[in-house]
Amino acid sequence: MSNGATVRLRPIEPAEAEAHWRWNNDPEVMRWFSTGFPVSRTRFIEGYADRPPNSFERTVLGIETVHDGRLIGLISLGDTAHEIGSADFDIYIGEKECWGKGYGTEATRLACRFGFDTMGLRRIQLWVADANAAAIAVYRKVGFVEEGRARRTLRVHGVWHDMVLMGLLDDEFAALDAVPSAD
Ligand SMILES: CC(C)(COP(=O)(O)OP(=O)(O)OC[C@H]1O[C@@H](n2cnc3c(N)ncnc32)[C@H](O)[C@@H]1OP(=O)(O)O)[C@@H](O)C(=O)NCCC(=O)NCCS
Repeated sequence: MSNGATVRLRPIEPAEAEAHWRWNNDPEVMRWFSTGFPVSRTRFIEGYADRPPNSFERTVLGIETVHDGRLIGLISLGDTAHEIGSADFDIYIGEKECWGKGYGTEATRLACRFGFDTMGLRRIQLWVADANAAAIAVYRKVGFVEEGRARRTLRVHGVWHDMVLMGLLDDEFAALDAVPSAD
């Protein structure tokens, strides 16, 4: 549904729940997330078919590679606030051998295009751990800027980290998206 040169975004099928569960239980993938309480594989997979359909309030899409049609991760736009046209963005690529190939950057760009052009959002925001250098690099490349930080709100292996609030506005994205990128 959203096609790029190297990845596309499309809905996730219930039959793909197993991959989603595996990613959620990979400590390297989830290193910078607050994961909450563990969920059993059976419960996770059984509950997948009952997930609410994608909507303005919350949309979850799989990231699929163009060259071999493999599902490698997901993005979400959620907690959408109608009155200000703002949504929270999240991404992860669960197949770790796919990191560092530009997929995250293109998927983020496609998600922002979907949010601004199709959903009519005015701003997209996200929270990222201050030490998550790869994610911050991706967000900066797409045009997100730091808007604030919540100090010492994530603890990873005993070390406290700040969570950085980054935001992107529709006109800023339109200006950047119109310019062919060098990456
Ligand atoms: C964050 C994530 C989505 C990035 O996806 P990706 O496909 O690896 O990203 P890309 O290849 O498009 O770009 C990664 C950029 O980070 C840079 N990078 C990677 N590791 C880095 C590091 N340790 N320090 C600085 N920059 C780093 C790369 O050089 C690249 O930038 P460049 O193109 O300018 O060279 C992916 O690593 C991931 O899913 N991580 C686990 C989940 C996660 O942290 N999600 C974000 C939550 S806020």
